[in-house]
Amino acid sequence: MPTFQTSPGTRDILPPHAARSREFSRVFAEHVESAGYECIVTPMFEDLGVFQRLGDATDVVTKEMYDFFDKGGRHIALRPEQTASVCRAFAEHRPTPPWKVWYSGSNFRYERPQAGRFRQFDQVGIEVLGVDDPMLDVEVIALGWKFYTLLGLKDVELVINSLGDAGDRENYVEALRIYFNNCIDQLSPEAQSTLLKNPLRVLDSKREQDQVIISGAPIISSFWSQSAAEHFTAVCQGLDLVGVPYVLNEKLVRGLDYYRRTTFEYISRALDSAQNAVGGGGRYDGLVEDLGGPPTPGIGFAIGVDRTLIACDVEGCFPFGSPKIDVFVIDTVDGTHALLVNTSLRDAGFSSDRAYDNRSMKAQMKSADRSGAAFAVIIGSNEIEQSVYTVRNLGSSEQFTVAIPDLLTFLSTHLGPRRRNTP
Ligand code: HAM
Repeated sequence: MPTFQTSPGTRDILPPHAARSREFSRVFAEHVESAGYECIVTPMFEDLGVFQRLGDATDVVTKEMYDFFDKGGRHIALRPEQTASVCRAFAEHRPTPPWKVWYSGSNFRYERPQAGRFRQFDQVGIEVLGVDDPMLDVEVIALGWKFYTLLGLKDVELVINSLGDAGDRENYVEALRIYFNNCIDQLSPEAQSTLLKNPLRVLDSKREQDQVIISGAPIISSFWSQSAAEHFTAVCQGLDLVGVPYVLNEKLVRGLDYYRRTTFEYISRALDSAQNAVGGGGRYDGLVEDLGGPPTPGIGFAIGVDRTLIACDVEGCFPFGSPKIDVFVIDTVDGTHALLVNTSLRDAGFSSDRAYDNRSMKAQMKSADRSGAAFAVIIGSNEIEQSVYTVRNLGSSEQFTVAIPDLLTFLSTHLGPRRRNTP
């Protein structure tokens, strides 16, 4: 028989890790919904053209796209991120701005797998369409920042920059092209090939050989238009006002080409520098228009779930516990009592589990202990004869005899009322 394993760059997320990821998304949803963001779900695959707007010169588009022709001959790609999909959805459905949405889900990039870098990875994120106000940039950046603190992370640094308006960015790229071409021989072979595709990305090189040249490169702030400069100053002042600490870095260019004006990254100092960006975002004021919509400013961020959880492991925060249940039902008669009791417990909103295969009392008690349940409801022939249940507090070992019709009231008294699951 053949044996199978997950593909490179993908993983099974087993219990209890999967529950931890779900809890991560829950905390995120609660956090951003309290700031007026609503959930959006976009398809996992789209017309390739949607994602080509991320930039012809980016690795994400040129090397990492999972694309294929479907049976109808359409050129499709698995989403490498969700900002472009949100903008496509805005252009398609034309909701009333400001449109504040959040999302969570998997993305696909054919990258070289390594610690913290996967081919299928999860992100949570927010996007806002239709607002130019720098106070929104502050809100968005601060929400991301606050989320890391909610997880308990302490060693995250916020790095910010502005790439100027559309024209500023193009002028800057041209200046970089001329500068790097003048000293091309001193650049590493990798930086030389990046230069041909995208001079901006040379600034991202981590190679020792490139650092001296990079440090003398033109800086973006000298290319900012007055409005871009004023916008960025207001963003920085707003961050100061709400007490979010940041580091200015004129070399922060990000890996996707749609960014204009404010850009930012959240860096975990607890992680290896090759994979230490736990989230990032910025403004992409031309993207909706590029996707066939009206001119619409936009800003957002995405947080890498997998990588942020690795940072949590290193910092020892956001621990995972197995979800605990309320009740474990032990039936030594024939198993049907456990079936009925579990059904009524779950209908009444209690979480409950049981053992199967008519196992011995001792084996079922062991399963009950392992389940972490607060109470065991024990049903043997004596109990059935007397129309009662024996209820055992698994923490204190205290036992109670409860008349069958009183079980739900007994549990509500001890565990608190539950919301009923049936109408
Ligand atoms: P990004 O910087 O490409 O931005 O990804 C955001 C985060 O996703 C990264 O900081 C990282 O934590 C995580 N990530 C990216 N690629 C991988 C990978 N291969 N394996 C594990 N984690 C990964 C975006 O995706 C933009 N859409 C963010 C944005 C939203 N900009 C504006 N709005």
